[in-house]
Amino acid sequence: MSDFVVSLCGMTSWPLGVPGLAWGADYNPEQWPEDVWADDVRLMREAGVNLVSVGIFSWALLEPEDGRYEFGWLDRVLDLLHEGGIRVDLATATASPPPWLTTAHPEMLPERADGVRLAHGSRQEYCPSSPVYRRKAVALARALAERYRDHPALAAWHVGNEYGCHVSRCYCDRCASAFREWLKARHGTLDALNDAWATAFWSQHYTAWDQVLPPRATPTYHNPGQLLDFDRFSSDALLELFKAERDVLHEVTPGVPVTTNFMVGWTFSALDYWAWAREVDFVSNDHYTASEDAERHVELAFAADLTRGLAQGKPWLLMEHSTSAVNWQHRNLAKLPGELRRNSYAHLARGADGTLFFQWRQSRAGAERYHSAMVPHAGTETKVFREVCQVGAEYRAVRELIGSTVDARVAFVYDWQSRWAVGQPGHPNADFSYQENVFALYRAFWHAGVTVDFLPPDGDLSGYPLVVVPALYALDSAEPFERYVEGGGRLLVTYLSGVADTRGHVHLGGYPGAFRDLLGVRTEEFFPLGWGQTATLDDGGHVALWTELLHLDGAKAVASYADGPLPGVPAVTRHEHGDGTAWYLACGLSGEGLAKLVDAVLFDAGVPRGPSDVEVVRRRGVVAGSPVSWLVAINHGGGDVELPAAGVELLTGTRVTGRLTVPAGGVVVLREEV
Ligand code: GLA
Ligand code: GLA
Repeated sequence: MSDFVVSLCGMTSWPLGVPGLAWGADYNPEQWPEDVWADDVRLMREAGVNLVSVGIFSWALLEPEDGRYEFGWLDRVLDLLHEGGIRVDLATATASPPPWLTTAHPEMLPERADGVRLAHGSRQEYCPSSPVYRRKAVALARALAERYRDHPALAAWHVGNEYGCHVSRCYCDRCASAFREWLKARHGTLDALNDAWATAFWSQHYTAWDQVLPPRATPTYHNPGQLLDFDRFSSDALLELFKAERDVLHEVTPGVPVTTNFMVGWTFSALDYWAWAREVDFVSNDHYTASEDAERHVELAFAADLTRGLAQGKPWLLMEHSTSAVNWQHRNLAKLPGELRRNSYAHLARGADGTLFFQWRQSRAGAERYHSAMVPHAGTETKVFREVCQVGAEYRAVRELIGSTVDARVAFVYDWQSRWAVGQPGHPNADFSYQENVFALYRAFWHAGVTVDFLPPDGDLSGYPLVVVPALYALDSAEPFERYVEGGGRLLVTYLSGVADTRGHVHLGGYPGAFRDLLGVRTEEFFPLGWGQTATLDDGGHVALWTELLHLDGAKAVASYADGPLPGVPAVTRHEHGDGTAWYLACGLSGEGLAKLVDAVLFDAGVPRGPSDVEVVRRRGVVAGSPVSWLVAINHGGGDVELPAAGVELLTGTRVTGRLTVPAGGVVVLREEV
């Protein structure tokens, strides 16, 4: 074990004692008779498993009646795992309350915006503001912590599970009072609330706090300020639950790191993970690819880079992905041979120091019985289990990557609050999607072979030659971006950035509001395009969805509309400001036009393109006291690809001098010679 691994093991920001890169799964032994457990541990060893998450959905078995805990079976599971040398990310088991609890306290069930109270019978059936849920969850976390504080298998705590996955907003009376308290803390007075929510509109002026409600089902559009604050409140309310359990765990088991699995990816948007990431001891994420998306590996890269951003560049853990099909998409396509391996390495390349799956053994019953696992229904003589064993063994060969960081010279600014704000109804184009806007640009950088970091809106931009700001809609002031560009930075801002302040009030005087001066433009009117309507730029670029009637105010036009509703009007602009440049993408540019723009800004920033036919990411670290870099290259295509490189390929032990072959569908990990 390298010195680095030893020092990591001594820290409280990583699962304790995992010997190398983490490899494993959610382990749900309670779904199986005990005589399967010994076989599980034997097979885990065969598969190179060294970390499993246990007990995530075990509340009903751990506390079969109020206050009576039954830990015997979990003792036996943890002992068996420990004997097998497998570390445990132990759940607090609070992800789903047992039926006896919701039967005794139906008021703890969550309520939808239309007043329907959800019943038990699936999972996550609790209201975030329920004092009963909180009291019982914290008590269970304490009981588990007290029981297992000295268990030698305990590596980390896994609080809840995917907070907000199914119930991220609750509209019940208790949440209404909690929301009011949250609003009082944010706004202070009712006058300030009326002002922030602009309640003069549609006769919504409040004269007493108890008139203020969550955005329940209403005749038509909600107040946008109310919606945005309720999104913020709801993310905070769940975070408070996490913190309540975490604090007890820190108290009883100081030194054991605490995490909860995020859902950074395409669809889930309900939590402001920048705020959450500050509260976990290490960041962990669950990621599933959209099986019908031909470029699902690009979305995976996006999620992994964003997760690394949340971890502030430090190592993070992929808590769950799938070995093959999931069971919750419309058509659940199996992963192709080699895909599980490529997916695992793609997360690793982008900063994960371990990749785990949902789940160890495929369930034979229950709602997720057709979700793949490390051990499929068909057993171990399978493509899945063979690939699982292969990667498990390979991870030992590349373990020196542990603790290294990822090289990126371009940063994207990502903002959940802007995502909420610009996703509200009543905007100029309901087909605009924050996520698609960010991802279109991300995809263009991915195809240019450029690795990107992600930053929060108030992140430190210095050190990046290029910063990309997609649809940063809700922004009070662009001053930090102005300073960045004045100091020589290159900035690319897209439409719908800086349009409103963080209350959602539009900045007056022309769009894009807060960014107007920096970008040297003034838009007098949005001109979204209709269904099937497109426009062409004078450089051939193809535009859909969005255009705007823009005037230059210091900037120069890079490209203008050749047709469409605004012929001759600038669509892409460039403004020299201080020592830097601020680019504005004022339209829904796609395909080759977008690729060309990305090339131009990369050139402007002096950032070289990487290979475009193979995914290549560089990690840097220290081995035996010396700085080292590694290239992780993943070939998603059907033909071999050659790269100029020199060093040692760790998976085969081959010395590479000059040219490195990345086989079709394969992966290489090269320790570079510099
Ligand atoms: C109707 C209503 C107005 C306003 C407009 C907007 O005419 O009376 O208050 O909402 O629609 O289109
Ligand atoms: C999520 C959950 C798991 C399981 C998987 C299935 O990640 O955390 O319990 O439901 O999805 O894809």
